[in-house]
Amino acid sequence: MTGIRLEHVTKRFKTQVAVDDVSAQIENGEFVVILGASGSGKTTILRMIAGLEVQTSGHIYIGDMLVDDYEPRDRNIAMVFQSYALYPHLSVRKNIGFGLKVRHVERGEIDRRVNEVAQLLGISETLDRRPSELSGGQRQRVALGRAIVRDPEAFLLDEPLSNLDAKIRSSARIELKRIHQQLKQTFIFVTHDQTEAMTLGDRLAVMNHGQLLQFDTPERVLSHPASRYVASFVGSPEMVFLDGSVESSGAGYAFLTGPVQIPVRGVGRAGPVTIGLRPWDIAVTRAAGPGTVPARVVGVERLGSSDQVFLETAAPVTGAGGLPMPPLTLRAMVRAYDFEIGDAVFVAFDADRALFFDADGSRLESMSSPTRLG
Ligand SMILES: Nc1ncnc2c1ncn2[C@@H]1O[C@H](COP(=O)(O)OP(=O)(O)OP(=O)(O)O)[C@@H](O)[C@H]1O
Ligand SMILES: [Mg+2]
Repeated sequence: MTGIRLEHVTKRFKTQVAVDDVSAQIENGEFVVILGASGSGKTTILRMIAGLEVQTSGHIYIGDMLVDDYEPRDRNIAMVFQSYALYPHLSVRKNIGFGLKVRHVERGEIDRRVNEVAQLLGISETLDRRPSELSGGQRQRVALGRAIVRDPEAFLLDEPLSNLDAKIRSSARIELKRIHQQLKQTFIFVTHDQTEAMTLGDRLAVMNHGQLLQFDTPERVLSHPASRYVASFVGSPEMVFLDGSVESSGAGYAFLTGPVQIPVRGVGRAGPVTIGLRPWDIAVTRAAGPGTVPARVVGVERLGSSDQVFLETAAPVTGAGGLPMPPLTLRAMVRAYDFEIGDAVFVAFDADRALFFDADGSRLESMSSPTRLG
């Protein structure tokens, strides 16, 4: 059981910067999920921790040990790959025990540990089968079993669930969480699936272009995203962004864009800004009310217990120079089957739940800060 620390770790492949000055402290026993789009540097980070790739600069610590010069086998870290890399000609029992055998662990001890791990993973009845005779979910557990049996300091898991179909995937997630709770060891899990990240991670490391954008609990990443990129990447359905400006309105201030005018509190200054709203903080009604904007339903996505509706604002708006502006497009969550395409509706915004971003995409902690706006 060991924590892992990255200090200003950078990895360059020729001119390509795969990992860009990443620093992070992963605590002992923590389940950390690295979340990022394809090519953001997730696998490269795991490979550097495992010692399969050497960083261009920076330092890696496993526990208190600086491991920069350690070979992979001396780091005692287990990596589970997306492909599982099981030996097809060996039984499940031999696949799991393989790493112990090459370390010359005694036969009886191998049997004991393989049985124990198989029990933990619920695959005892498959021990004498070959990998080809297993389901995807069972294969994934064998790969994990092979890692667990070695009793490593930490587990690195590179998209281990991505080969499973949606239904098994969800149960495999619950299973993996249970195993982590039982083993109480450090897990670093890579995915580009944000649902997976939210359900599994004690903390999420959100990456883009090799940079670590935010390292925080799932709740914080959702409620306090560091940037517009993080806000759009995390949370489903995706956040709605409106580019506009804050202007003085009566006694206070309001956010304005096209026909939309949302009074905002705690704002002390005007200026251009983007607001972000979760689709469930945008209300759709049949009747007009205070501050509502007329709109039309242009698309409906049935999600089961609720629908996501796609909207276009209806009111003709003139922009600068008297030119007509295109309608705003919005999305909102509504009760299942409440609306159809073509419905004329009214939209209201929960301004207290809006996030504010500046032109370069950084989130503004407070709209009242005069230094960050205008
Ligand atoms: N051995 C290599 N040689 C050259 N470039 C590489 C090498 N390995 C990775 N890269 C580049 O480094 C960047 C990060 O790659 P990495 O595999 O870490 O991304 P990833 O986040 O794991 O992506 P994915 O989700 O597609 O697996 C990519 O642009 C990739 O092309
Ligand atoms: Mg990868």
